[in-house]
Amino acid sequence: LNLAVLISGGGSNLQALIAATAEPGFPARIVCVGADTDAPGLAHAERAGIPTFVIRPGDFRSRDEWGQMLAAAIQEHGVGTGPNPGLVVSAGLMRILPEGFVGAFSPELINTHPALLPSFPGAHAVRDALAAGASETGVTVHIIDEGVDTGPVLRQAVVEIREGESEDQLHERIKEVERPLLVATVREIAEGSLDLAAVAAGRTGAD
Ligand code: GRF
Repeated sequence: LNLAVLISGGGSNLQALIAATAEPGFPARIVCVGADTDAPGLAHAERAGIPTFVIRPGDFRSRDEWGQMLAAAIQEHGVGTGPNPGLVVSAGLMRILPEGFVGAFSPELINTHPALLPSFPGAHAVRDALAAGASETGVTVHIIDEGVDTGPVLRQAVVEIREGESEDQLHERIKEVERPLLVATVREIAEGSLDLAAVAAGRTGAD
C-alpha cells in the first residue's frame, strides 16, 4: 500500500510511520510527504530519502486551488490513481482539506486527532479537553469526510488526564498512544483487515 503523509509540524507521527514502514514485511511504504509549510517534520522524510513537497495555501487564490495542487502532487507519486489507490494519511496537518480534495481521495484518506471524537473537534482539542475539566481524553483515527473531524471513526484509544498537567504534557502523553495506534491502523488497512470502503458505507461496525 502506497502512503502519502501530510504534516504541518514536528512530524513525530510521521517519524513513527517511517520507522514502521522501514521494517521488512510491513505492508505499506511511504512514497511522499507533503506539508503546507516548511514543517520541521519534513527532515524525517528527507533523512529517509522519501520525496517531499511544500504547497502553501497562501500561494493560491483559493483553498480549492490549493487543494487541487496538493491532490496533483500526491497523484504524481501514484497515490489516488489507478487500481491501487493507496492511502493519504493526515498526521498533524493543521488545515481543513477542501471538498474537492476529500472527494478525490476519501475514503482512502484518514486523519489522526488528539481527542475522543466527537468530543473536542477542531484545532485545539488537547487544550479544550483540559479546559473542560475532563477526567480523560484520547486519540481518534478516522476517515476524513466533507466535515471537520466528522468522518467515520476507525480506531480510538483513551488517555487519562492528570491533575495539573499542562497542555503540552498531556499532548505528549496522547502522542505516546497516538503513534502506535496510527501505525496499527495503517497496517490493518494495508492488510485488508480494516476495509475503509465498508466503514465509509456504514457496512461494518469497525469503530
Ligand atoms: C498530533 O497529535 C495530531 O493528532 C495533531 O497534531 C499532532 C501532530 O504531532 N493533529 P506530530 O507533528 O505528529 O508530532
